[in-house]
Amino acid sequence: MVKKEVTVTINGKEYSSKVEPRMLLVHFIRDVAGLTGTHVGCDTSNCGACTVVLDGKAVKSCTVLAVQCDNKRITTVEGLSKDGKLHPIQKSFVDKHGLQCGYCTSGMIMTSFWLLQRNRNPSEKQIREALSGNLCRCTGYENIVKAVKEAARNIMSEQNRDLVKEEAIEA
Ligand code: FES
Ligand code: FES
Repeated sequence: MVKKEVTVTINGKEYSSKVEPRMLLVHFIRDVAGLTGTHVGCDTSNCGACTVVLDGKAVKSCTVLAVQCDNKRITTVEGLSKDGKLHPIQKSFVDKHGLQCGYCTSGMIMTSFWLLQRNRNPSEKQIREALSGNLCRCTGYENIVKAVKEAARNIMSEQNRDLVKEEAIEA
């Protein structure tokens, strides 16, 4: 099979490789970039464990071909923490016990990340709707929803703190 050179920017870093046209994005992320935080749960677009953010949209990376992502930008769960500090969504999943085995967690976190970029204060219904394509066989979802609410609160209070700091500098 003729291979095609593909370059994908993942978490701000470029990865290039010659890949078969049938290679799925999730395999490019795991096997070419070596970022194994993105999981394969079903390979049939049901579970959401493979969710990443592609050009600003949450996508199931087992439903996208790597060649479709040439020159595109992707964020995976590894791209969320900064300077060794967990992203507020990652921290709230830990604090609110939003995970047990952890298999679904990176997908849950990436869908939540995408949701909170679009809606800073989602209702419980909106959180449940956003996460309806992500399956968890362990938690019963209650603590996941609590974790997303907590993350929304913490992100807003961090932003408020930053605003107050900016105002103090300007005064
Ligand atoms: S592995 Fe992609 S949806 Fe399950
Ligand atoms: S924590 Fe085990 S599948 Fe969700």
